[in-house]
Amino acid sequence: MSKVCIIMTSYNKPKFIGKALQGILNQTYKDFELYLMDDNSNEETQKVIEPFLKDDRIKFFKSKVESISERVSKVRYAVLINKVLNEVNSKYITYATDDNVYRPNRLEKMVEFLDDNPNINVIYSSSITNFLDNEDNIVRSINRQAKEVTWCAPCILDHCSIMHRASILPIIKKRFESYWDENPQFYRIGDARFFWKINHFWPFHPINEILDDNYITETSIHHQLFSKEKSEFIKKLPKQRTCKELRSFLKNYRKEAK
Ligand code: TYD
Ligand code: MG
Repeated sequence: MSKVCIIMTSYNKPKFIGKALQGILNQTYKDFELYLMDDNSNEETQKVIEPFLKDDRIKFFKSKVESISERVSKVRYAVLINKVLNEVNSKYITYATDDNVYRPNRLEKMVEFLDDNPNINVIYSSSITNFLDNEDNIVRSINRQAKEVTWCAPCILDHCSIMHRASILPIIKKRFESYWDENPQFYRIGDARFFWKINHFWPFHPINEILDDNYITETSIHHQLFSKEKSEFIKKLPKQRTCKELRSFLKNYRKEAK
């Protein structure tokens, strides 16, 4: 078993997933395995993925989900991530998506930090979020800086900029009965909901260095949510729960714990 388990979810990002996979294979730190969890992407995407599967560090899974109703009945990336979390034995767990590119030293920096700090369980790094127009030009970028230890991580940091010890997982499961939340009310902020669970027990410690670049593409859930014409997928989603709710809960929770 490798020391680091990377869980990448994928659905229909043919223009991006090649870069995302290459970013992982280019890591200076080598003791990892990548679970590539594809949610039954179109042929174009599958063609991009295929050559990468020769690398035996990549474990590939493809779901059988077809209809939009099935896609909105659960937070699909949470389902795919939980499937891996139920099986792996690596020491450290980290997450990737098909539209995020790790910088070459991401794993090296994060593993070194956790190795050097045995009492720290969860870390995050700075990251760049790029918003793209219809032709994939960057129209706006946000630098999300990892400056402080935070007990309120939801919506200030991103899916692909954290790493945690696997040892936290049984504690999360015992308290919440699951790891990532599959309730479709959290489709928009599934990562924030997982960070919310983590923040009941542990803070996130910062590495103030940009270690990944994230892209909000034309087909991203967020792009669809905020565009004027709503897709079938968005129309079928239940009302989405909010960052505000998660963040104010945690602030009160901390006050009461003090
Ligand atoms: P994405 O479209 O990138 O949304 P955003 O970045 O705006 O939150 O989707 C997030 C991840 O979820 C991505 O890795 C693909 C995965 N996903 C599935 O696995 N199945 C699905 O049906 C959808 C819509 C997304
Ligand atoms: Mg995305």
